[in-house]
Amino acid sequence: MSAFGSLLPPPLDERRGIPLYYRKTEEEVRQDVYERYDELVARQTALHLADAVHGGYPLQPLADYLTRWLPSGPRLAVADVGCSVGRLVGDVALAHPDWDCYGLDFSYQMLRQGRDYWTAGKSVSANLLRFGYPLESFTGHELPNLHFALADAAALPFPDGSLDLLVNTFLIDRLPDPRRAFAEWWRTVKPGGRVVMVSPLNFLKKEQWEQYHPPIKILDQLLRQGWQLLDLTDPLDLEEPMDRRGNVVRWRTLALVLQR
Ligand SMILES: C[S@@+](CC[C@H](N)C(=O)[O-])C[C@H]1O[C@@H](n2cnc3c(N)ncnc32)[C@H](O)[C@@H]1O
Repeated sequence: MSAFGSLLPPPLDERRGIPLYYRKTEEEVRQDVYERYDELVARQTALHLADAVHGGYPLQPLADYLTRWLPSGPRLAVADVGCSVGRLVGDVALAHPDWDCYGLDFSYQMLRQGRDYWTAGKSVSANLLRFGYPLESFTGHELPNLHFALADAAALPFPDGSLDLLVNTFLIDRLPDPRRAFAEWWRTVKPGGRVVMVSPLNFLKKEQWEQYHPPIKILDQLLRQGWQLLDLTDPLDLEEPMDRRGNVVRWRTLALVLQR
């Protein structure tokens, strides 16, 4: 394997150190809820980077599931697609300093927060005072083996057969056409490589519910594509804290591990 980050080709553009593999229009940025710093970026920061506030990582069962299904070997290439502020892939990069890790997302604001925390060693804060949380800041890391980039899950910037592991969590029900993402998993994962997918399947359109629910319909599409199923856990229950009082959103996710 060559140098860290070398799977990424030259980008179309770059914004404050983040390579861009998709040029979002102003309208796309305006329409994208994940670009809203004070709402979704703050929530994702509170959920994924503010362990000190919660007395632990609220999505620890998700992190444990991923850890259980990590492939083993030296110098593996790992990507988290829809990584938001980069918690899962950040932990992988931290635990495996010789692995080449990538966090991809469609939101520049999420990536900036992730990059500041995981690779620039800056302090970030969640700013959720209105939910009763204290304003605390969290000092990050300077990981040389983690690279963030803006890209669409339906057009990944990786060469064919280049990844040992592709992770995606809480992503596929947010995509206009999950089948295009499935095609990219097949294209970019090496023979013998894995996909770990965890999703609440909380689709936003009636047609998607028809196409992907119940989960056997998703599994059927993936198996027909050629994947081998290593694990199916349904449900993998996860709780997302909403405020300091202890209100939570309970997610009933489907977890899949596939091998190419
Ligand atoms: C619900 S959040 C989940 C974030 C994180 N993976 C988690 O498990 O909490 C969905 C993330 O997917 C990103 N996303 C949405 N559409 C995308 C696309 N087409 N390509 C890549 N990322 C996308 C969003 O910007 C957001 O960060």
